[in-house]
Amino acid sequence: MDESNFEKLASMVKGFTGIEKDRVSLGYRPGTQLVRGYSGIERETGAISAPIYLSVPYVHPSFDESTGFGYARYGTPTRLELENTIAMLEHGLKAWAFSSGMAAISILLKLFVPGDHIIVSNDLYGGTYRLFTTIYGRYGLVFTYADTSNLEDVKKELRRETKAVFIETPSNPMMNVTDIKAVAELCKNNNALTIVDNTLLSPYFQRPIDFGADIVIHSGTKYLGGHNDIMSGFIVIADKTLIEPFFTFTMSEGGVLPPFDCWLTLRSLKTLGLRMEKQQENALGMVDFLKNHKKVEKVFYVGDRDHPGLEISRRQTSGSGGMISFYLKDKEDARGIINKLKLILFAESLGGTETLLTYPVVQTHGAIPEELRSIVGVNEKLLRISAGVEDPADLIEDLDQAFT
Ligand SMILES: Cc1ncc(COP(=O)(O)O)c(C=O)c1O
Repeated sequence: MDESNFEKLASMVKGFTGIEKDRVSLGYRPGTQLVRGYSGIERETGAISAPIYLSVPYVHPSFDESTGFGYARYGTPTRLELENTIAMLEHGLKAWAFSSGMAAISILLKLFVPGDHIIVSNDLYGGTYRLFTTIYGRYGLVFTYADTSNLEDVKKELRRETKAVFIETPSNPMMNVTDIKAVAELCKNNNALTIVDNTLLSPYFQRPIDFGADIVIHSGTKYLGGHNDIMSGFIVIADKTLIEPFFTFTMSEGGVLPPFDCWLTLRSLKTLGLRMEKQQENALGMVDFLKNHKKVEKVFYVGDRDHPGLEISRRQTSGSGGMISFYLKDKEDARGIINKLKLILFAESLGGTETLLTYPVVQTHGAIPEELRSIVGVNEKLLRISAGVEDPADLIEDLDQAFT
């Protein structure tokens, strides 16, 4: 897009050029930014809770004028407030909100053309693997999988056609930690983009753009929404050059987040910090229980002193979050434990207020072929817990009775 067209769109589409770096809200600490959002109160009315604008078309005052809104697929005031808030929290320039994490990743892949090569963390959410392999593989994108927690493994996969490295850190479900800064430096030297799925820690604990990432994506269905009742996804960019492509893909395809869900996510964000601190505290209690239980072989938790990625984690995050995976000594115990749980729910998601237990091999990671799963370590002994915000004593009691 030439500069004059960019300027024209910038004058017609509100928020086109991203967040304003001199906004008062940018100076606040994350806890305050979460509560107040990007704009704080709505100036005209004084509304403290962001208003929900349901209108699809927006009237233009005259032939040459625009209010900054035109048609809901391009943007709505409620969505813009949410997108600006997410961009601010992630230390990015601009964000887009979609109807699911997968919808966001699908839009992200529109950046690439047949023959482009993308290196992907070999331990990642099964749905992302399915989207890459079974859908975008058919359109000529080439994906190879590497242990991104080992920089040498990433280097080995680099080719002339490599256009991006897609990282999950911590990875889901094995909680491997990738050094974002090291990968971003490697990518910059090879003209490739660094893309980080930041779902597991959220911007409350980790902001990949600070370490050189070009794009951050989220399943907002998890911690950002946080109550197991909204599906959403986000793309956040660090740099102006990506504004035009993502604007074009989004306004052409849709898949955007409806106004009510935008508002509900804004409301949920107000407590993201409180929830994440509590989820982390509850996770730490369960890690302690699991590490000392005779039926448990190994616990994977990024904040654990035995975790190999602890040093990198400490450098690039301010917390270790609420996700735990663990191996049972005997895979035959899995069914019995799942069936005996009373409080902890056997369900396939994470990041919400309710503590959930997942059996990745058949649930979240069932789409990944056995060959790749076994390299990564996702097997029948593995269980995953997403800590909620319940009373920790009840959670431990429930695990204790289920393990007995
Ligand atoms: C790390 C990660 N990324 C992306 C997704 C996809 O998000 P959604 O379910 O909102 O489409 C998930 C879903 O579980 C996930 O765990």
